[in-house]
Amino acid sequence: MTRLHKTHLYKHTPLSHVYSHTTRIGSKKMRPSAIFFCFVFSYSLRLLTFTIGEAEAEARRPFACSSRDSANKRLPFCRTDLATADRVKDLIGRLTLQEKVRLLVNNAAAVPRLGIDRYEWWSEALHGVSNVGPGTTFGGEFPGATSFPQVITTAASFNASLWEEIGKVVSDEARAMYNGGAAGLTYWSPNINIFRDPRWGRGQETPGEDPMVAGVYAASYVKGLQGTGGGDRLKVAACCKHYTAYDLDKWRGVDRFHFNAKVSKQDLEDTFDVPFKSCVMEGKVASVMCSYNQVNGIPTCADPKLLKGTVRGAWRLNGYIVSDCDSVGVLYDSQHYTSTPEAAAADAVKAGLDLDCGPFLAVHTVNAVQKGLLHEAEIDGALANTITVQMRLGMFDGEPSAHPFGKLGPKDVCSPAHQELALEAARQGIVLLKNEGPSLPLSARRHRPIAVIGPNSDVTVTMIGNYAGVACGYTSPLQGITKYTRTIHQPGCADVACANDALFSGAIRAARQADATVMVMGLDQSIEAEFRDRTGLMLPGRQQELVSKVAAASKGPIILVLMSGGPVDVSFAKSNPKIQSILWVGYPGQAGGAAIADVLFGTHNPGGKLPMTWYKQEYLNNLPMTSMDMRSNPSRNYPGRSYRFYKGPVVYPFGHGLSYTSFMHTIVGGPKVVSIPVDGRHHSNSTAFSSKAIRVTHARCNGLSFSLSVDVKNKGSKDGSHALLVYSSPPESLWAPSKQLVAFEKVSVPAGGQRRVAVNIHVCKHLSVVDKAGIRRIQMGEHALHVGDIRHPISLQAHVLGMVKS
Ligand SMILES: *[C@@H]1O[C@H](CO)[C@@H](O)[C@H](O)[C@H]1NC(C)=O
Ligand SMILES: *[C@@H]1O[C@H](CO)[C@@H](O)[C@H](O)[C@H]1NC(C)=O
Repeated sequence: MTRLHKTHLYKHTPLSHVYSHTTRIGSKKMRPSAIFFCFVFSYSLRLLTFTIGEAEAEARRPFACSSRDSANKRLPFCRTDLATADRVKDLIGRLTLQEKVRLLVNNAAAVPRLGIDRYEWWSEALHGVSNVGPGTTFGGEFPGATSFPQVITTAASFNASLWEEIGKVVSDEARAMYNGGAAGLTYWSPNINIFRDPRWGRGQETPGEDPMVAGVYAASYVKGLQGTGGGDRLKVAACCKHYTAYDLDKWRGVDRFHFNAKVSKQDLEDTFDVPFKSCVMEGKVASVMCSYNQVNGIPTCADPKLLKGTVRGAWRLNGYIVSDCDSVGVLYDSQHYTSTPEAAAADAVKAGLDLDCGPFLAVHTVNAVQKGLLHEAEIDGALANTITVQMRLGMFDGEPSAHPFGKLGPKDVCSPAHQELALEAARQGIVLLKNEGPSLPLSARRHRPIAVIGPNSDVTVTMIGNYAGVACGYTSPLQGITKYTRTIHQPGCADVACANDALFSGAIRAARQADATVMVMGLDQSIEAEFRDRTGLMLPGRQQELVSKVAAASKGPIILVLMSGGPVDVSFAKSNPKIQSILWVGYPGQAGGAAIADVLFGTHNPGGKLPMTWYKQEYLNNLPMTSMDMRSNPSRNYPGRSYRFYKGPVVYPFGHGLSYTSFMHTIVGGPKVVSIPVDGRHHSNSTAFSSKAIRVTHARCNGLSFSLSVDVKNKGSKDGSHALLVYSSPPESLWAPSKQLVAFEKVSVPAGGQRRVAVNIHVCKHLSVVDKAGIRRIQMGEHALHVGDIRHPISLQAHVLGMVKS
């Protein structure tokens, strides 16, 4: 039966903030948490009676327009033969102001007189259907769901078709659970904020530090979740969050509820906004979530320039904008942005917010209207955006079983094929950082026994990271390795905090006896999590000491396996010849241990690459987490952030990742000169700007792309997959990154074989840079494209088109 997990309330940290609020609902003073609790409880009860009443869980009660509701089912908003816009308008026209404001919040109230049920908007599916969020519960026919690797791991595959495939599987399981009454249809995933600072506790949830990779990830995962066929119809509605410049949770007394991110126009345009733009314009996402923090003094959820201007205006979001949980309360209570709660409610709705995760808008919006701060028509505008998404999901089309995905049920969750994809995703995301000797792959015949050591060597839930659900089942690293060979297991430390050396001697003894030693070390949610940023980059507690002592004593090679979301400064292991191999596995999901073993024993040839820079601890010396600047500033010793702007020493660079084979690139084709058509209205004299940077908006960008042809040769004796990364360097300038990724392509090449890859490059999108005023420009002159060590020069030249007569 459905039950409320004890960890559940603890887990969605956003609400921990809600707990501190006291809100008046009706005449009774009630804590929002209590309201929330009552709701979840009654929801559970409803499911309970329902499951008992009907044999088939698939027969979920319709949300609205039930065929059994003869009074309402003929109303225009229920009529599938009418245009969605007309149905939405009809429905809004029937609602009272009181009913409307109760639809502005995540636990939207029922409208019984119109046959409309309550709806919980908050479900999550970051890397599998999750129960972080009251819309989803596990139990009964749905004891768990496929738990894919954490996003930072999946990102390391650099395989966009894998990202879309995972989205498809997750939305199959989400629809199946919705049909069975266990989940919603609106998922507040993915998290596509830039992994700006290596300490960020939520960096694990993101696709890393590169804006282009994050943008491709966003569009691919969203397409997978929302489904491509069926025109405007949605399989489930995804949500790209948290807009924008949100990447600090809690650092030295500064928390996300109070943080004012000071962001330059340049960084906003060429870093923080890039993945969101791609999510909306290419992924066609059905929702965007605004963040807790302020950007340049304005809370993002009350900033009309960001919400109405950029997301809905410039990018043309077809969907709804939702607040992070209790963001509207936060901008009033914590940030004191407005003097009254009614003004906070009015500002948020006027800025373009359509839905509040939290009770605030339900409580204060009627008063805001009565005080004249907000017009009812503005509320109607917000509701039109949310209800349109519900209509696109088929929620007003009557019986859920009649929906194209209405037949999905329990057998479609945790199916063997889905669990196999979780294993495959983990394999593809594992990054081989070091392999001297080479000591890997191990041999099950020669390496017997293998010592398996470390606080993460036999973990399960650690492998699924945060924003997870309940997994179908787990294979721990120890279990995975034991399937290949005989093992001796010693934890070495009681947990990742590794506060003492009480268990060291057992670990050392094991390593003395074994032919090889695998040490599974790293972090977990006690070190990096939501609302928990790290203070440094070293392994916690005495982990490093354990690794060094075991290495000194071991008979065979040491293989260090690191489980972590963020980067770890393992310089000591990189330079220790006894530690011959290092693997980074991120948080590899429910099948993580099996994938690790497949890589260790060479059943799978690793092809993952780091989606973020692995900095040295010293990098943090002069780097407050609160400094948002991406670019370095030598005058104040500011190092800059990410491979695009930081040029100092690193442990392992962005894009690093080895294989059991070796690949060679040759650029075999690509233009040397690209002519950019420029509108004659803006530029009549081509010599005047031959060395200038022209605005992207002045160029004829449509179809302006070319293909770079690259041969990838596998020179070794093992089949392998290779992530081809193509970078560009613009002409020297004060404001451009010295290089940035412009394309990537994953290719598999058999041993001794060769594959030709055509990489498509859009000139305006990929070869442009952003000036200090935040304007995207294409620099004329000599650019270079790089693949590995090879360089392909390319000259961009403007070509002025004749004056356009208007
Ligand atoms: C074009 O610009 C160049 C450089 O600014 C200038 O020398 C030249 O006279 C201009 N030609 C015309 C036709 O305006
Ligand atoms: C990318 O992932 C998909 C889905 O798992 C897989 O079929 C494909 O082989 C992968 N591509 C490469 C080149 O490894």
